[in-house]
Amino acid sequence: MTTNKPVKKAVFPVAGLGTRFLPATKAIPKEMLAVVDRPLIQYAVDEAREAGIEQMIFVTGRGKTAIVEHFDIAYELEATMAARGKALDAIDCARATPGNIITVRQQVPLGLGHAIWCARAIVGNEPFAIFLPDELMVAHPGSTGCMKQMVEAYGEVGGNLISVLEVPRDEVSSYGVIAPGREVAESLTEVTGLVEKPPVADAPSNKIISGRYILQPEVMRVLEGQGKGAGGEIQLTDAMARMIGSQPFHAVTFQGRRYDCGSKLGFVEATLALALERPDMGAEVRAMAARLLA
Ligand code: G1P
Repeated sequence: MTTNKPVKKAVFPVAGLGTRFLPATKAIPKEMLAVVDRPLIQYAVDEAREAGIEQMIFVTGRGKTAIVEHFDIAYELEATMAARGKALDAIDCARATPGNIITVRQQVPLGLGHAIWCARAIVGNEPFAIFLPDELMVAHPGSTGCMKQMVEAYGEVGGNLISVLEVPRDEVSSYGVIAPGREVAESLTEVTGLVEKPPVADAPSNKIISGRYILQPEVMRVLEGQGKGAGGEIQLTDAMARMIGSQPFHAVTFQGRRYDCGSKLGFVEATLALALERPDMGAEVRAMAARLLA
């Protein structure tokens, strides 16, 4: 039984082309776009570390090496900053244990399920987390991040967990949607079905998968023989749906805020919201926004 082994590995599918953000993403990975001053990928990795995850597995593709560079020690930068008496905390994201940033390549864009499957050799026979860095999950002040909340729920129920949130019904066809079952605890429900990008009329609920997962390694075996699903892609949602019934499957509603940074509007919203609450600039941003809106 693998059900309650601790979650120490996370997979970050980051091979996508980022066409929605062109021309910004022509030569720069979309995961390196910064919300205020931190790239999207770093928010996700920080959330993983907070949850006790140690090994970060990036599923990358051509043109994505800047992501790996970002988590390396920048010797010249550190030496120059130290010589100038500047604090180094702005560049301390390389603090992972050496060897704990791993990349595998997704050579062809066959879908999210295929991207995850590309990490199978590194995941091995352990439970693992998945982060879609487009989904920016921000903890309420004094509270914990999304993955930490999920890891806590995992400690209770084991098996497989996904984070969910409610969206207006007419938006469900852009997402994976759950059929909710019994409510186990506050913010924790069983999942009895999953469907990727259903037509609005067929959607089992308005609760969508919001880009965070804890899965058992058996999903890799299911993905192995997985045919194409919605949009002609190999869908992770379809593989997860096939595991319901043979392993526990639950949904956690994140107590916090989520920004869809896969869309321009969501990205601008995240930038403004996070800038407004920064102690070093919030007041000035507020005054600036008021000026712009006057
Ligand atoms: C993916 C998943 C979907 C999920 C969404 C969250 O879709 O397939 O189930 O709801 O991420 O952002 P994508 O946005 O890659 O089309």
